[in-house]
Amino acid sequence: MKYQKLGKTDLEVSVVAFGGWGIGGGIVWPDMALAAKDVASLLDEAKDLGINYIDTAPVYGTSVSEKLLGEALKGRRDDFILQTKCSLNWRGDGGNYHYSRDGVTVNNDTSARAVKQDVEDSLLRLKTDYIDSLVVHYVCKTWPVEETMGALQELIKEGKIRAVVLSNSQPADLEEYSKYGHVAAVQEFFSLLSPFHGYDYFDACTKYGTTFQVYGSLEEGFLTRPDFVDKEFPAGDVRGKLPWIHEPIKGAIHNLFDEVLTPLTEKYNCSYANLIQAWTLKQYPNLSLLTGFRRAETMRDTVKCFDIDLSDEDAKLMLEKAAPAQVPVLDK
Ligand SMILES: NC(=O)c1ccc[n+]([C@@H]2O[C@H](COP(=O)([O-])OP(=O)(O)OC[C@H]3O[C@@H](n4cnc5c(N)ncnc54)[C@H](OP(=O)(O)O)[C@@H]3O)[C@@H](O)[C@H]2O)c1
Repeated sequence: MKYQKLGKTDLEVSVVAFGGWGIGGGIVWPDMALAAKDVASLLDEAKDLGINYIDTAPVYGTSVSEKLLGEALKGRRDDFILQTKCSLNWRGDGGNYHYSRDGVTVNNDTSARAVKQDVEDSLLRLKTDYIDSLVVHYVCKTWPVEETMGALQELIKEGKIRAVVLSNSQPADLEEYSKYGHVAAVQEFFSLLSPFHGYDYFDACTKYGTTFQVYGSLEEGFLTRPDFVDKEFPAGDVRGKLPWIHEPIKGAIHNLFDEVLTPLTEKYNCSYANLIQAWTLKQYPNLSLLTGFRRAETMRDTVKCFDIDLSDEDAKLMLEKAAPAQVPVLDK
């Protein structure tokens, strides 16, 4: 495993981070229900592989992911750098309508009051008295950044959080938040199929010493096998809402596998996921590879991506051949 500092903080995090959305299940990840003991085994495996960085959010399974992790972390909380999120909540005490899912209405609220309440709620579910890194899940312009970041800085002083991360944001948001304190990372979608937002963001990350944390680099599995795009997903499943399953993009993804990805997996003797992650790591030096896991096998395979020395030429070829399948902006 490789390690890096998260932004300019002293948090030493593994480059591969454990994404905890899928373990929350619910209507968006309905095909695999995990119990606390399964999550405890996943964390055992993560620890063995050197993965010390965990990402979750209150809304993943509407509290399920946080609660499962809270149980699984009992007695070993300090072994991991734990990251959760604020702003999206279903308390019904304010905020802007964001979505309805799993039978609840979720609002987005970045007011100081809401952010502080989010942290108290997460601390209880995660059974801990501190969160290493807190992500503003959806940056929002309704409340002044000074107010939101002011609350986050107070939480740092109180020892309840140690670092601030922004998500679903723009470079201008990073610039604005950075006026009031350090933003350790931005957590943004970035993949071979939708790389433009990242390319627009890297310069700002360099300017502010901020880590670029990728989510969705495997596109929820679509970049892990040629036939994933042919699967049928139940209503509500996040994977059935992505643009990849519709023509002409679907055909373009098949071509990408046939013409480039399959030959390159043979050349480098690696899995598709390894090839994609090796490509992703090559795009920016201070990159955090946040990957969703629900099975130990996929975690074990993922860490092999560091063994691949992907050539500049092959990385360029992958990007060129992905062009017909790419979309500019994704909303997950
Ligand atoms: N800030 C935001 O708005 C936001 C949005 C989306 C995601 N996120 C965060 O980012 C994390 C990652 O995103 P994601 O989970 O949506 O998608 P992802 O990482 O692109 O894909 C996760 C899927 O890839 C599979 N996978 C992982 N490694 C693999 C391997 N080596 N071989 C084959 N399959 C492999 C996993 O399989 P198994 O399930 O079988 O293990 C899982 O189904 C989330 O869990 C969440 O923590 C944040």
